[in-house]
Amino acid sequence: MNLQTNFLEKKFSNPLVLASGILGVTAASLNNVLKNGCGGVTVKSVSLLPRTGHPNPTMMGAEHYFINAVGLSNPGVEKAVEELKKFRKLTGKPLIGSIFAGTPDEFGEVAAKLCAAPIDFLEVDISCPNVSKEFGRPFAYDKSAVEAITKKVKANSTVPISIKLSPNAWDIDEIAVVAEASGADAITAVNTISGMAINVSARRPVLSNKQGGVSGPALFPIALKCVYDIYKKVKIPIIGTGGITTGSDALAMIMAGATLLGVGSAVYFRGQDAFAKIVKEMEEIMKQEGIKNLDEIRGVAHL
Ligand SMILES: Cc1cc2nc3c(=O)[nH]c(=O)nc-3n(C[C@H](O)[C@H](O)[C@H](O)COP(=O)(O)O)c2cc1C
Repeated sequence: MNLQTNFLEKKFSNPLVLASGILGVTAASLNNVLKNGCGGVTVKSVSLLPRTGHPNPTMMGAEHYFINAVGLSNPGVEKAVEELKKFRKLTGKPLIGSIFAGTPDEFGEVAAKLCAAPIDFLEVDISCPNVSKEFGRPFAYDKSAVEAITKKVKANSTVPISIKLSPNAWDIDEIAVVAEASGADAITAVNTISGMAINVSARRPVLSNKQGGVSGPALFPIALKCVYDIYKKVKIPIIGTGGITTGSDALAMIMAGATLLGVGSAVYFRGQDAFAKIVKEMEEIMKQEGIKNLDEIRGVAHL
């Protein structure tokens, strides 16, 4: 039985990749995640200049979901490049950089700068739901913005790019088609979905930003449908992300059509070794079901 996955000509020992924004800031923390069973890692999204993000509280965990409005805090692209150079000295395992910006030109500029780091792929975050006060409607809802950003990033990148889409876009499959036609090498689906939490005793929203992005198990069936719909419309590979918490979730996401699997909030629900646990469960189910490799089941739910 084999979990090895080829993604855009790069070999991953298994399809699990750390999702952007979770544990992935320093070279040491990224390397620790790899030791905990991940096939590759995605770095926290970086912008041209450093950002402090929203004031606390920025996160809350509940029984079936996690909600955050961190607000894309990051040290800026130049510091990130230094950190990723350190990471590359620790391991040659797959590394996905991640960027966001306020305009297509700025996306191009950050992409060119981050490509100076030894990244294997570049994920383009156009779908954060927590910064709309600053940046307006997420670009991922708007086909012309998706086209402009994808073209700019592609023209400025030396590595394959994946456009990260929003489950809030009702026509996410059509948006994926636009990204593919504009030069995307892959699609990451999905980012968090917009939501909120209210503290009943305080009679106020829990997050300082009032609203945030929902991730974790509650997001899983939504993400699964997004990946299923996108797989029908595009030929480029999909990084299925959103609520994957168990081996069964992981295999279902591959059956919907995903090639890689982004895993983030599972670390909150199952601990730092969530990746190793998910891999073990995948292997157990594959053994029971007589599945020899993941290519055999990719997209099988469409047949
Ligand atoms: C605390 C936190 C911070 C995040 N930061 C980013 C980010 O910087 N860039 C990004 O593209 N996605 C970010 N995300 C979204 C995740 O990468 C992922 O798409 C989402 O959480 C769904 O996956 P999950 O349910 O496995 O966590 C963040 C999510 C969380 C919970």
